Amino acid sequence: MILAPSILSADFKRLEAHVREALQAGAQWIHVDVMDGHFVPNITIGPMIVQALKPLRDEMNSVLDVHLMIENPDRYVTDFARAGADVITVHVEACPHLHRTIQLIKSLNVKAGVTLNPATSLTTLEEILPEVDLVLIMSVNPGFGGQSYIATSTAKIKRAREMLNAIGSKAWLEVDGGINAATIGDAANAGATVFVAGNAVFGGSGSVAENINALKKVIGI
Ligand code: DX5
Ligand code: ZN
Repeated sequence: MILAPSILSADFKRLEAHVREALQAGAQWIHVDVMDGHFVPNITIGPMIVQALKPLRDEMNSVLDVHLMIENPDRYVTDFARAGADVITVHVEACPHLHRTIQLIKSLNVKAGVTLNPATSLTTLEEILPEVDLVLIMSVNPGFGGQSYIATSTAKIKRAREMLNAIGSKAWLEVDGGINAATIGDAANAGATVFVAGNAVFGGSGSVAENINALKKVIGI
């Protein structure tokens, strides 16, 4: 079980210190949400921020988990790999040649992930599943932090878990969007192994350590 705080909700004025708090409290990965204003209606950050976080990743032995919500990701995966990404996840909706994109990521010695929007069927993953290191179930429509968990995501995680088990895949099963102390348990019971949380870690009134501990407690880590 891995907690992957999304830096989207962190304080960018003191990004390193804020992310460090989360890692020191027991979060293992750093989730980086890249948005281009085309694939999703919001613009966020690029490879330079991944590069800026790399020393912290090295120091804390963490993992830079890059979620590309962009059109034409093939154009940028090399830049993210050079910047220090350990995992790069692309959307099936943005990849007409998904097999090629996944091979490209793997050729850069980076773990390859695939994800899909809430209304996209898991059947779109069937052919690529044996090739990927991570499957990400979006439990909100991508574009913004702080949205509510879509309840039907739990059943989708369960089905994804069955699909992975059926082919003997050891890929991580990640869930992203609206994860907090009230929803993380359902996602874990359904078979998710990596939990992205933005608002529930960096937002609200509690400290980052308190927030992380509340999530850890529910999933028993
Ligand atoms: C949504 C992003 C998520 C999001 C998570 O487009 O991919 O990573 O920022 O934020 P919360 O946990 O606040 O829903
Ligand atoms: Zn994300």
